[in-house]
Amino acid sequence: MSSVAAAHWQEARNLRLAARLQAADPQPPSLGLAREGVLRRAVGLTLEASGCSAPLGSRCRVETAGGRWVDAEVVGFAGDRTYLMPTADLEGLLPNARVVPLRRRGEVAVGEGLLGRVIDSDGVPLDGRGPVRAEQWVGLAGTAINPLMREPITQSLDVGVRAINALLPIGRGQRIGLFAGSGVGKSTLLGMMTRFTAADVIVVGLIGERGREVRDFVESTLGEEGLRRAVVVATPADRPPLARLHGALRATAIAEYYRDQGLHVLLLMDSLTRFAHAQREVGLSVGEPPTTRGYPPSVFAKLPQLVERAGNGADGRGSITAFYTVLTEGDDQQEPIADAARAILDGHIVLTRRIADAGQYPAIDVEVSVSRVMQEITDPAWRERIRRLKRLMAAHSAQRDLIAIGAYQRGSDPAVDEAVARWPAIQAFLGQDVAEASDVAASRAALAALLDDGPAAVAPNRPQEA
Ligand SMILES: Nc1ncnc2c1ncn2[C@@H]1O[C@H](COP(=O)(O)OP(=O)(O)O)[C@@H](O)[C@H]1O
Ligand SMILES: [Mg+2]
Repeated sequence: MSSVAAAHWQEARNLRLAARLQAADPQPPSLGLAREGVLRRAVGLTLEASGCSAPLGSRCRVETAGGRWVDAEVVGFAGDRTYLMPTADLEGLLPNARVVPLRRRGEVAVGEGLLGRVIDSDGVPLDGRGPVRAEQWVGLAGTAINPLMREPITQSLDVGVRAINALLPIGRGQRIGLFAGSGVGKSTLLGMMTRFTAADVIVVGLIGERGREVRDFVESTLGEEGLRRAVVVATPADRPPLARLHGALRATAIAEYYRDQGLHVLLLMDSLTRFAHAQREVGLSVGEPPTTRGYPPSVFAKLPQLVERAGNGADGRGSITAFYTVLTEGDDQQEPIADAARAILDGHIVLTRRIADAGQYPAIDVEVSVSRVMQEITDPAWRERIRRLKRLMAAHSAQRDLIAIGAYQRGSDPAVDEAVARWPAIQAFLGQDVAEASDVAASRAALAALLDDGPAAVAPNRPQEA
């Protein structure tokens, strides 16, 4: 057989195969005809195939020794070369192995059966409670909502945490960053919100944590009560970078599915930083330049793509309110990922080690935390109280060192005097036990009580304007 005839024959076989596969499996949608290739190079996490024709973002299977197959995703191409990255551990890879494009993009099985379940980035259950029944398939990458069609943020959302409800009110459909170093209480705060937030469904994406932390979060922090209305997608740190990326995408896709059912969803992503790190590994592996302090440009493209998927649905549909944790080691708020996250999110809550070390939990630094939708969901009296408390706290922290050693002279500054007089009450107001919930009405009432009664006579009502 001449080589031309062989090519024709192969083409015809591919067409027949494609037709058969399409008939057998109408869902998920096909990607058109794809051509099988051969593995030429495998260095680090990057695979290079030649002769392979598969669209960017699609899945391939690579044959390994012993006839097993591993999944890989097309992450780039150059000339005849297709670059792939594995979504599972690479073992037994052989030179010239077959690379067979799959006729589907990464698709996400969704349905009621997901509630209460813990799955991995491929949708495989991790909780040993049998398979999850899919009712529908949705895309891993989601479909963007026209920003002009999105419902604006107009309703406040009860998250059950007094300091947030009263001072950093969260709107339904808002995207908020939770900025903190490790061990300052991010996971614990997310756990509180999982249990107390007024949401129909809670989707938790645990991305790049240690395996032990995943177990801790599910069993202790979330508990049975929290898990009942939650879906957890866990991709620990030891999984390949693409799997970690897919974990975040899958969690978002699941949240989108519930939102499109008209439900109000709380999406908790721990952490956005690890998602960015995974994308950095992918980008660098395929030869992107590390342009911003070691991060390739694709990282800063992927972050808004992920975050923009949360938010309110098109008119009348449900909502996704999302919290993304951002690691700020050594309290470096200028770190590129923290910087990028601040720019694309509608607010940030900062947890500070200084406050946690003092045994004050949740360790929210009210002075530097911001909710950008406050104007839309609060009334003027409420905003005035928030400003007043922030001024008191700023006055106190300006003299913190003197106050701590008892060297502050009463009477030097009326604002500081009032702050010192009210300090125990402020601390009690900000502190909250993990098992205790405080709804929006109670939190607002507590703020009003904190400022309107008590030792108000110590100083004028508006210290900074006096
Ligand atoms: N609300 C809280 N009340 C009491 N202790 C807390 C609270 N939040 C955090 N902690 C303490 O801080 C530790 C680390 O919290 P964690 O939520 O795991 O931090 P992170 O997720 O930021 O690494 C916990 O093991 C606990 O001892
Ligand atoms: Mg944590």
